[in-house]
Amino acid sequence: MKISQRLQQLEPSATMAMAAKAKELKAAGEHVVDFSLGEPDFPTPRHICQAATRAMQEGHTHYTAASGIPELKAAIVRQYQQRHGLQYQPNQVVVSNGAKHALHNVFTALLDPGQEVIIPAPYWVSYAELVKLASGVPRIVPTEEAQGFKLTPQRLRESIGPQTRVLLLCSPSNPTGAMYTAQELAALADVVLEHDLVVVADEIYERLVYPGHHFTSFPTVRPGLMERTVVVNGVSKAYAMTGWRIGWTLSPPQLAQAMAALQSQETSNPCSISQHAALAALEGPQACVEEMLQQFARRRQYVQQRVTQWDGVSCPEMAGAFYAFLNISSYLGRRYGDTPVENSQQWCLALLEQQKVATVMGSAFGAEGYVRLSYATGMGELEEGLDRIQRYLQSAQ
Ligand SMILES: Cc1ncc(COP(=O)(O)O)c(C=O)c1O
Repeated sequence: MKISQRLQQLEPSATMAMAAKAKELKAAGEHVVDFSLGEPDFPTPRHICQAATRAMQEGHTHYTAASGIPELKAAIVRQYQQRHGLQYQPNQVVVSNGAKHALHNVFTALLDPGQEVIIPAPYWVSYAELVKLASGVPRIVPTEEAQGFKLTPQRLRESIGPQTRVLLLCSPSNPTGAMYTAQELAALADVVLEHDLVVVADEIYERLVYPGHHFTSFPTVRPGLMERTVVVNGVSKAYAMTGWRIGWTLSPPQLAQAMAALQSQETSNPCSISQHAALAALEGPQACVEEMLQQFARRRQYVQQRVTQWDGVSCPEMAGAFYAFLNISSYLGRRYGDTPVENSQQWCLALLEQQKVATVMGSAFGAEGYVRLSYATGMGELEEGLDRIQRYLQSAQ
């Protein structure tokens, strides 16, 4: 059966593909160290699971309003007020099936065919594909490792063309762990205001920020930004709730209304039980977030300390999220055993085959010569995996 042109062009998620390969090897009995997937390895905190059980017992098992239950919208509004001093109204919130679905809604609601979204690279794998699915055009703008993988105002200005409508910002970043300071965001905001752009601010890693770094929500840095920003967030990363599929947007009411209408036709409401679980996550005790962050911080420090000892590999300091983005370009154009390795994809595949460590190639994030390593794994696995990578690097001829 013929597949539509649009879907023929769709790239499957590289992170999921690597994780699937790793699972295959595991099923065949291999001990694979999996650094490929971006999800916390902790269980969802108990009080959140209990809230879901209660929701089922109390009969919250039917359709809800397509854009989410009022209690959850109110909790999201409260959170942004308390954490960032931003005063949204409930009619500006759309709750979706994860932040990924929220992004799909945003691009579908914003873009007419041919309109461009500026995506600074390295970028999370799904952005470009979601833009294309919505008939938009991703305009990939490279950033420099020497500048911490951050878009500069000058680079942004140079990248804006007559069709450019949206700037996408992901801070803290998947895949680099980079995070913009308030000053850096303000400098970008000036260009955004000058050129009348809309900003999609993916703040899903907001709660995973390491000591010495301070998160700033994009709409706070200049007056007038709330009217031109869509904030994307969710519970997946902060509360170890990737499987529950709850994310949301905060946007001007007109856009929220359009996205709610889209959602009402495409998926109806996100799972009613998950919405109650997300409500418990936002309104319940927050110590669980802090505890997980402390563990991530230990792992991050360990990764940073190990990789800086590797000859010819560099990795900028990670301010947030749980990824290390390693520059392995000096290890390309070499042989590993009998295997010649020319690019990051081949490097990752040979690493998986020879040392049974799953990572994701930089080319999937628009950055050849790099590899992403997710340190959302236990300390034992982390030590073992890094030992194996070190052996692999040492084997390069
Ligand atoms: C930057 C970024 N945005 C959005 C998402 C999607 O999150 P969710 O699982 O809530 O769909 C991810 C997940 O990996 C991500 O890394």
